[in-house]
Amino acid sequence: MLIEAKDISVAIGGRLVLDGESVRCKPGIMTALVGASGSGKTTLLHCLGLLLPVDKGSILIDGKDVTRYGTAARRRFWRDNAAFVLQDYGIMDEESVAFNVTMQASVIGKRFSGYKERLKQSLEQTGLKGRENELAGHLSGGEKQRLALSRAIYKDANILFVDEPTASLDATNRQMVIELLADFAVRARTVIVSTHDSEMIAACGAMHQIGSNSSSH
Ligand SMILES: Nc1ncnc2c1ncn2[C@@H]1O[C@H](COP(=O)(O)OP(=O)(O)OP(=O)(O)O)[C@@H](O)[C@H]1O
Ligand SMILES: [Mg+2]
Repeated sequence: MLIEAKDISVAIGGRLVLDGESVRCKPGIMTALVGASGSGKTTLLHCLGLLLPVDKGSILIDGKDVTRYGTAARRRFWRDNAAFVLQDYGIMDEESVAFNVTMQASVIGKRFSGYKERLKQSLEQTGLKGRENELAGHLSGGEKQRLALSRAIYKDANILFVDEPTASLDATNRQMVIELLADFAVRARTVIVSTHDSEMIAACGAMHQIGSNSSSH
């Protein structure tokens, strides 16, 4: 799916955080959102993912203007098409690793064929093999980040929104995460990554520098 921001502006607490940003995120490639800390990468990612409303401009999905989508339509979009790996990881500490990946209690999940195998594979791919039954709250920061990625792999969504995926990882895990995300793009998914990691940026097929297309006032 093609996701576009057209000339969007966002003010937070009376301050203009995004000022006329335009970006096209195409399926089949990874798009990097880059800029200094505080430049608005996370804000732009959230706008593209319909998590944050824009004050000006529009968001389009496959050419359709979704800027004014209500709660129900946004929920449908998240459920059917999106996976998020955000800066706070969105991990439920009181739940098991397995629940955090599948969002299903195993007793319900067993009805779905291939549930266990898919869960296993999604954990294996992020280096969390065999840790299904651990409490997610006991994982380290980097492990939680990889757990969030396992959830996205399990869901195999059309669009992946990823905020600083390599920020708290060592070199080995960083490379692994970059390859995993690149693999999503190879499978024609839309991958949008906020990052200032030069290796991550190098692996992206497109790059958007925040502030580079600001309209002048
Ligand atoms: N909920 C909020 N309340 C107040 N200010 C906010 C909020 N969210 C973002 N901002 C402000 O908007 C600006 C951009 O924040 P954002 O998180 O998008 O930056 P970033 O480029 O992702 O930074 P980093 O690289 O540090 O993650 C910052 O100055 C931040 O203080
Ligand atoms: Mg950020």
